[in-house]
Amino acid sequence: CGIVGYVGPRNAVQLVFDGLKKLEYRGYDSAGIAAIKNGQVYLEKEKGKLVNLGAKLDQLPSESQLAVGHTRWATHGGPSQVNAHPHQSEGVTIVHNGIIENYDTLKSELKAQGVEFNSDTDTEVIAHVLSQEYAKDSSPQKALLRGIARLNGAYALGVLFSGQADTIFLAKEGSPLVIGVGQDENYFGSDITTFAEVAKQAIFLNDGECASISAKEVRLWDFSGAELKHHYTSINWTPGSAEKHGYRHYMLKEIHEQPSVISHSIEHFLKDGKLNEEALGITKLDLDKIQDINIVACGTAFIAGLLGKYFIEPLTGLPVNVDLASEFRYRNPHMLDEGRTLVIAVSQSGETADTLASLKHAKEAGCQIFSVCNVEYSSIDRISDSTLLMNAGPEIGVASTKAFTSQILCLYLWANAFAKQIGKLSPEQENQMTQELHSLPVHIDLAMNSEDKVKTIINDYYESPNFLYIGRGPSYPIALEGALKLKEISYIHAEGYASGELKHGPIALVDRHMPIVAIAPQDEYHDKSISNIEEVRAREGMVIGIGHDKDDKLQAVCNDVIPCPQVNNPAFQAILSSIPIQFLAYHIAVKRGTDVDQPRNLAKSVTVE
Ligand code: G6P
Repeated sequence: CGIVGYVGPRNAVQLVFDGLKKLEYRGYDSAGIAAIKNGQVYLEKEKGKLVNLGAKLDQLPSESQLAVGHTRWATHGGPSQVNAHPHQSEGVTIVHNGIIENYDTLKSELKAQGVEFNSDTDTEVIAHVLSQEYAKDSSPQKALLRGIARLNGAYALGVLFSGQADTIFLAKEGSPLVIGVGQDENYFGSDITTFAEVAKQAIFLNDGECASISAKEVRLWDFSGAELKHHYTSINWTPGSAEKHGYRHYMLKEIHEQPSVISHSIEHFLKDGKLNEEALGITKLDLDKIQDINIVACGTAFIAGLLGKYFIEPLTGLPVNVDLASEFRYRNPHMLDEGRTLVIAVSQSGETADTLASLKHAKEAGCQIFSVCNVEYSSIDRISDSTLLMNAGPEIGVASTKAFTSQILCLYLWANAFAKQIGKLSPEQENQMTQELHSLPVHIDLAMNSEDKVKTIINDYYESPNFLYIGRGPSYPIALEGALKLKEISYIHAEGYASGELKHGPIALVDRHMPIVAIAPQDEYHDKSISNIEEVRAREGMVIGIGHDKDDKLQAVCNDVIPCPQVNNPAFQAILSSIPIQFLAYHIAVKRGTDVDQPRNLAKSVTVE
């Protein structure tokens, strides 16, 4: 979920609505705005995407100078108008990002006291708790402090109290919250994108901090009520282009952007033909201390992390473990203190709550923290000892494409820079790698040609209820990513497997109705990959190969082959193999008529654990 607010002389409703557009990546199940005019609170909320709320904006007072808004990814209670924020109780209106873990207990207590509930959300509990506390002495600050003392869980809160028509109250524990400081106007938001074009000073709230903002004043205090000094950060941020540029979907545009993203990366991550250690985030790490590496991430970023292991382990000679962030955080993983374990977070948005929670945990355990991240000033960027900013430009399509290939490249270049620093990459090896790197954009351009073939074959496959994806070596994570992409946007059930693992179970699923996408470049695994495809063919499976179009062996065992350029470097090959699987998922989804850029039930970044 995302929250935003404005107080100042301008049209607060419009500014908050514009801020919500920037936060839609955090969820699009419902949205709502509360605005104050002449001391009275006006509220509109609507189920579904922000455009639905947009159609009702004229019902809110355009003269309002204070408003708060919310865009939701449903946790407690389905996506509906009643469950949409803001939520209200007598004298209190709130927007909330996070999860209240003791909401059940609180709800029972409140109900026993005769409080009536309108929604199924955990957030409504907060509204009633604050209302009870506010009724005691009409002090908003004290009510907020007493109220949050009754909550367990994660929250970023924006609160309006009756009788306080020019002030928004804020509290943060676990979920991100930042204040944008302007000239006679102030903002708050879940991230800086909501105000970065207008306010150049930000105050990132820490856990355990509250604030109040009016047009002319920002006040901060901790959960004991002690007043805090302001801790400003200057914001030097320019929004990248978020236009579709004539493409039907953002996802299609972002797939086609990959040659230029990779070209820019080469400029950015090389300096005078050599690895640029500073841009790669190497210089701020204490490499000599590191004895092992844990990679933590979610979704597509996790799959990029899996690929990272294939390169980082041989290049650095260090053991690399890759974990889903939601598992790492709670399984008591092996971690060495005093910076001897390096934890690497991979995250496009930098706001994924599971990944952030893992980093906080690792930091407490004394690990060094490094992140590969696409968004500067994001929560994950700020908590890290060192960040490699991917520079892939904004990714709007919920299904990650250009960020994925950029993550692979970043992890690979970082591993090379690390190896170089510890004497495991010779100047000759560095030269060879950078030469291969320079020809990568051309090969990615060629990989774009796979789209034509994809379009011609999907008629035979798009109605299949199931797909299998297989690959060996670095093509195994690509198989996982292929299956994930297809699931996310076409809603077809798909699974990715290591080709060699197929025979240990999933081959039972294979019959003449099962399409199997086999990622099989001409690499060191090729012969074995072909044997695995034969095993599938022997069970009448329909095989779509992804490999070189001059690969006769592959052609001979596949029903269709989607052509993909061939290179020697396995990391670069993995990037190339990603392109056909992106097109395959995209065109199948379009054919099935799904909402490609904002698929059902998903959010671009999930900001609750
Ligand atoms: C969500 C998105 C995925 C994404 C994952 C991690 O679940 O739907 O596409 O890969 O979050 O996001 P991050 O921003 O941390 O890379």
